[in-house]
Amino acid sequence: MTTINPGRLNDDNVQPASDLISGVGLGLRSPHINEILTDLPRIPWFELLADNHMVEGGLIPVQLAQICQHYPITFHSVGLSLGSVDPLDFNYLAKLKKLMKSYGVAWLSEHCCFTSVDGFHSHDLLPLPYSEESLSHMAERISQVQDFLGEQILIENVSSYMKFAETTLNESEFISELAKQADCSLLVDVNNIYVNHINQGINIDDYIASLPYDRIKEIHLAGFDNRGDYILDAHNNPVAEPVWQLFEKLIQHVADVPTLIEWDNDIPALQKLIEEADKADNIINNYRAGNLDYAIG
Ligand SMILES: [Fe+2]
Repeated sequence: MTTINPGRLNDDNVQPASDLISGVGLGLRSPHINEILTDLPRIPWFELLADNHMVEGGLIPVQLAQICQHYPITFHSVGLSLGSVDPLDFNYLAKLKKLMKSYGVAWLSEHCCFTSVDGFHSHDLLPLPYSEESLSHMAERISQVQDFLGEQILIENVSSYMKFAETTLNESEFISELAKQADCSLLVDVNNIYVNHINQGINIDDYIASLPYDRIKEIHLAGFDNRGDYILDAHNNPVAEPVWQLFEKLIQHVADVPTLIEWDNDIPALQKLIEEADKADNIINNYRAGNLDYAIG
């Protein structure tokens, strides 16, 4: 790992928390917390699932505070349901805002999806039809969230296993225009692009080439599960070789953007995640040194 930013609680620190997020971080997972707090491994930053801290029984506040004493953190949310027609939950947003301020959270990311219908929360990241109507609807809701929080959020592309008849835009067009209309940032999940490439045949070179690079503030890497006739974004495996190759293509446009290793199921030892992060670091360093094998595709 290349960098570490210890002791960065956001009280007297005039540096914006977002400036402290750099290099290749890890998604913080509960089986690793005691080891992290004991050994303080050289990991530049952690991404935490915000929803885990919004309910009773979430990560113990003392542990959260201890993590924040030693590492910069970001929040990742799955509960805003930005694509839904359900009303935005401003109670949820108020809790989020308070937590982010209390712990000096660098930024919040959410997904280009909906999770609720008529107040029922599916706890799945459900894809939207990519139409002009859904685009303006979601852009308006992102703007409302950003106005409430007083800062930009990041929107992540999701994996999808179906196509809507109403879709008129391809995914990269949709998220690019969404970022423009909502004036938000983007989180590009490379594994999700690859999953949609295999399952739906999207053109990954066109996808990467058409992204608005100046709006990309974070990259996700994760492993998928091969189910035979399709692949599932299961976050239960090492990053697959073709996803590393896609990452190499992307970072040729955004080499300085912070990257994160996501691993949520069949969680291995912390050392395995650190090895994945080191691999990402090596790819970035090889690019900077001019040692990648192929040109931008
Ligand atoms: Fe992701």
